[in-house]
Amino acid sequence: MTVKQRTQVGIVGAGPAGLLLSHLLDLAGVDSIVVENRSRAYCEARQRAGMLESTTVELLRAAGLGGRLDAEGLEHDGIYLQFAGERHHVNFRELTGGRWVTIYAQTEIVKDIIQARLADGAALEFEASGVSVADLDADRPMLRYTDAAGQRHEVTCEAIAGCDGFHGITRRSIPRGGLRTVTERTYPYGWLGILAQAPPSTDEVIYCRHDNGFALHSMRTPQIGRLYLQVPADEDINRWPDDRIWAELRHRLATPGWELTTGPVLEKSITSMRSFVAAPMRYRNLFLAGDAAHIVPPTGAKGLNLAVADVAALATALTRLLRDGQSDLADAYSDHCLERVWRATHLACWMTTMMHVVPGQDPFESELQLAQLRNLVTSRAAATMLAENYTGYAPLRYAPDPAALWTSVA
Ligand code: FAD
Ligand code: DHB
Repeated sequence: MTVKQRTQVGIVGAGPAGLLLSHLLDLAGVDSIVVENRSRAYCEARQRAGMLESTTVELLRAAGLGGRLDAEGLEHDGIYLQFAGERHHVNFRELTGGRWVTIYAQTEIVKDIIQARLADGAALEFEASGVSVADLDADRPMLRYTDAAGQRHEVTCEAIAGCDGFHGITRRSIPRGGLRTVTERTYPYGWLGILAQAPPSTDEVIYCRHDNGFALHSMRTPQIGRLYLQVPADEDINRWPDDRIWAELRHRLATPGWELTTGPVLEKSITSMRSFVAAPMRYRNLFLAGDAAHIVPPTGAKGLNLAVADVAALATALTRLLRDGQSDLADAYSDHCLERVWRATHLACWMTTMMHVVPGQDPFESELQLAQLRNLVTSRAAATMLAENYTGYAPLRYAPDPAALWTSVA
């Protein structure tokens, strides 16, 4: 027998976007259910982002999620840019009049929100199967799934939020013609990422362009390093035993007198890189947010930050729609988000092509990359452009009381 339920917002996906949306809606008194096809343990362990814009940090704090983030997050003034064997610091705090970035792993954000949601008695369904959305042209769309115990559910919703990432089902459920444009670019390289039991050999993150390819030295805690190497898009990870990874990191990141601390590799994987934007981010009462609507290559650290910005706007818009009966913010949702998405898409694409080396690329391309990097570390105007974009392009549009927000932006 199928259990029939009702909720205001049916949320597909318990990544950062879906979890944070359900938390923000709850703060505003709007109820939701989150349906996720993976286990809680899997969601909490999936290694991904680590770099948060100051605007993201401020939102998480305002939403009551700043406890562990403030205790354990590593606040950085800026980043290092390395090229031609030289390492230069770019001080975002100074260039932007106070904005910064924080290293705090996506795994930890996910754990924090799951814990907060469960403490609030939220409906979180992990290990759901057969997840589908239907009746998207009706006033009350339907979310269907089978729970972990095998029970089939049909949830009548006032709105559905597609927070199910790039490979999810919600975007693909939009009827033909519902997405006006879908734009995409792939890159001929990927990132081999490692998590290592090795204290970071740097106080702030290093982005490094080297003739062998890009390298990134990030971190998770004072004891755990997170490092990445550019590899071919179709690379076989078995070709990268740990010794080879460390040797290549040491070679690409070398500067005179600097030592790379190595240690046991705890996890390694290869991520492909793509840019993708689907527009509009809404079909009637289905709203897309985060990676379900757009993907950026990871250089520039924008994906999670965009997901947070989307759901901040969406929580406000849905509260105004479902609690106050006003559709103005819901109607503005897609255009509002896409402006930020395209800014971030440009930044990520620009940083990616400036820092990565295509095997056999011609010297003209290499010299352009180096000239651009030299400009960033010698021109205050150029560095400020990077600093403004990297730390968060515009304030987030979030208000637990959306009527107040609308008055302030109208
Ligand atoms: P996801 O995290 O993909 O969550 C979607 C959820 O939906 C998943 O839990 C998935 O299991 C679930 N789902 C999928 N299909 C279904 C279905 N049919 N039914 C139910 N549930 C489903 N971003 C940054 O801002 N800063 C960084 O430093 C950064 N570094 C990165 C480094 C790497 C190596 C990678 C790969 C990404 C990085 N990102 C970074 C990007 C960031 O991780 C993503 O943008 C972020 O995870 C998007 O969150 P989301 O909730 O939209 O999607
Ligand atoms: C990290 C990831 C990124 O994509 C980035 O640009 C900076 C840092 C990280 O995982 O820490």
